[in-house]
Amino acid sequence: MAHRIAVIAGDGIGTEVMPEGIRALEATAKRFNIDLEFTTFEFGSCDYYLEHGKMLPDDWFEQLKGFDALFYGAVGWPEKVPDHISLWGSLLQFRRQFDQYINLRPCRLMPGIKSPLAGRKPGDIDFYVVRENTEGEYSSVGGKMYEGTEREIVIQETVMSRTGVDRVLKYAFDLAQTRPRKKLTSATKSNGISITMPYWDERVAEMAKQYPEIAVDKFHIDILTANFVLHPDWFDVVVGSNLFGDILSDLGPACTGTIGIAPSANINPEGKFPSLFEPVHGSAPDIAGKGIANPIGQIWSGAMMLEHLGYKEAGDAMVDAIEAVLSEGDSQVLTRDVGGKGTTESLGKAIAERIGG
Ligand code: NAD
Ligand code: IPM
Ligand code: MN
Repeated sequence: MAHRIAVIAGDGIGTEVMPEGIRALEATAKRFNIDLEFTTFEFGSCDYYLEHGKMLPDDWFEQLKGFDALFYGAVGWPEKVPDHISLWGSLLQFRRQFDQYINLRPCRLMPGIKSPLAGRKPGDIDFYVVRENTEGEYSSVGGKMYEGTEREIVIQETVMSRTGVDRVLKYAFDLAQTRPRKKLTSATKSNGISITMPYWDERVAEMAKQYPEIAVDKFHIDILTANFVLHPDWFDVVVGSNLFGDILSDLGPACTGTIGIAPSANINPEGKFPSLFEPVHGSAPDIAGKGIANPIGQIWSGAMMLEHLGYKEAGDAMVDAIEAVLSEGDSQVLTRDVGGKGTTESLGKAIAERIGG
């Protein structure tokens, strides 16, 4: 039976890397005999907003809920639509309404890519950021008071529910359990944020009791960011709140040379709703329209999607192909962010050809 994939390219380079993501998936589907059926949607982009006055149609939930997965590019074009409107009107709705409470973001220094951190080689940086994805600092609790006066106040509360915290911690501990080093690092800030973050630490300590074989440590987010740069080899599975996970999942990939290769899986582990796969990066207005965006973040997200759908071998083959093409280091093929002179298409085609065998 066909696996039904909803495709939403979004804005900017989202529309440029998406075709390469699909090209790689089609090559993989052919090689492994997987039946993938793609359905493209125009909504979830700023151009859709300019035409319809909203990011999504009213029945988007009904339209998408039956799909096996969502494959997203990137959304946001601040000159057309303010970011908080475009993002809260699309991506953040998907994450929340489809209860994609895990945002899994691998971070790996690939062969052939130079880390900006001196002396780091493949193997030195290889960890996962597990980001809480439906609550925390990204809450809709708050508001404005005394607007337009000198007494103006804006409040946005951080929300941590026991269920919300425990379920992301459990996922992260389970993931650490599968890794050779069996190590989990918690991102906190319980010295300064005195209610929610001590609560986070308490829940980590409680969960750790059920995983005696996992080595657990924690760092405040300020020194944790420093340690990402100074000692990236310390990390294996890093778990953080929505905002901390967001920051760490740009910083980690930057340490691996470019955020253009970083993938993410927004997962509803129970499978009650479709999960969403998208690169970590955004729509990159500064390079959009030039055909030079790195498509690897999109392609690797496709690999995560196949693994999620039960095709681990096929997903691994996609990542192997990415590594092989990067290792070859052909500057005519590679994009600029990884030191080449090639295009989104040249890199995407090279990876698809490699997958094809
Ligand atoms: P960004 O990730 O779009 O770009 C940051 C920098 O990284 C830019 O210099 C860009 O050129 C570069 N870059 C990003 N992806 C690249 C790629 N594939 N290849 C080569 N270089 C790449 O972040 P931003 O500039 O903060 O945001 C731009 C827009 O995207 C905003 O509207 C923002 O809200 C949105 N955004 C969306 C998502 C998402 O859809 N998940 C994520 C982040 C930002
Ligand atoms: C990401 C992005 C989003 C986030 C933005 C665009 C709302 O930065 O997916 O990392 O903060 O989650
Ligand atoms: Mn981000």
